[in-house]
Amino acid sequence: MWWMRRCRRSRPTDSNSPRISGGLPSLFRLADVSESVLAIEASEFGDDSVLRQVERDRPEPGPGEVLLDVEAVGVNFADVMQRRGHYHGGPEPPYVPGMEAAGTIEATGDGVDREVGERVVAMLDGDGYAEYATAPAQALFDVPESVSFVEAAGFPVQFLTAYLCLHDWGDLDESESVLVHAAAGGVGTAAVQLASRHGAEVYGTASTSEKLALAERLGCDHPINYTETDFAEETADLTDGDGLDLILDGVGGDTFRKSVDALAPFGRIVAYGAASGEPGTVDTATLLFGNKSVEGFHLGRAMQRDPERVFAAVPELSAMLASGDLEVVVGQTFDLADAADAHRALENRETTGKVVLEP
Ligand SMILES: NC(=O)c1ccc[n+]([C@@H]2O[C@H](COP(=O)([O-])OP(=O)(O)OC[C@H]3O[C@@H](n4cnc5c(N)ncnc54)[C@H](OP(=O)(O)O)[C@@H]3O)[C@@H](O)[C@H]2O)c1
Repeated sequence: MWWMRRCRRSRPTDSNSPRISGGLPSLFRLADVSESVLAIEASEFGDDSVLRQVERDRPEPGPGEVLLDVEAVGVNFADVMQRRGHYHGGPEPPYVPGMEAAGTIEATGDGVDREVGERVVAMLDGDGYAEYATAPAQALFDVPESVSFVEAAGFPVQFLTAYLCLHDWGDLDESESVLVHAAAGGVGTAAVQLASRHGAEVYGTASTSEKLALAERLGCDHPINYTETDFAEETADLTDGDGLDLILDGVGGDTFRKSVDALAPFGRIVAYGAASGEPGTVDTATLLFGNKSVEGFHLGRAMQRDPERVFAAVPELSAMLASGDLEVVVGQTFDLADAADAHRALENRETTGKVVLEP
């Protein structure tokens, strides 16, 4: 049962060196998989009431996988979009949501060079809203003792997305300006910190003064409340009419359309989401006469198509996390059983930073 499910192992001392696991056989193997464990299932597409507690058999790690004793689960806006049935190529109900989870390795499958008890955070292809989850060994980050599981669960998707959008896709130079929309959100808080540490001039939008204060604390030079002022006009004023070099847009709709106007010649938008529920559209004439460009980024698809390009960011990001250089902002935590409340808060824009579930 949910409240009497398992004996936890004592926490091991962790190696602090960031790495992606290799493929040598482990000494440890799964011993007992008969327990049933709690998970949260989306029974159908719909509002948060479709999220239900279910019991299921504890999963077994297949070859190349580990079994995680989950301590914290990252909630992503994509989980909300998938639940609504609005996610391109998303899962069909019933399914267990969840694309990142932190915890200790409980068991390993064949060909995995990992040890039972290691502290890790995993990127998952679903099934993360659960007490136990299996994860591909290639998609694990080590979690140093200095980083809590709750912080770790807020790290991989949002920091990898922010890093790759800024650098690999967005090609941000330290002399340039960058605008981060939803600057107090999960990806936004990561992007503001990374852009600021890179030396860029950072602009950020958000809907409340509290969110803007958070973005400013993290390194946003020009916080803009887009509910009170037109961000395209404001950034034009602030750049003396030059416009912005790079814009990270996870909102879409009107925000995307106005972002095209806010770009400088040779400026780039990296479109990585549509939290507004509406994708962005653009007239290509505006792009070609303005010498402006738009790139699309999707972490999961990029990992499938070019894992080396994605994982090239891991050593630097992991080192920054371990050194305390980056702050994983976790605005709210919920019990796993209250996943519906977490989704509601995220949809209602009541959250800052990352939302995390704790089994
Ligand atoms: N491409 C990828 O690989 C990838 C990876 C991670 C995330 N994403 C996408 O990136 C976006 C941000 O994800 P996140 O998990 O970090 O979420 P988040 O930014 O923490 O939350 C979404 C934020 O978007 C803003 N927003 C604007 N219009 C909204 C609306 N109609 N409904 C709800 N929120 C709205 C809100 O900020 P304000 O109140 O300040 O407006 C809200 O807090 C999402 O679109 C997500 O799907 C994409």
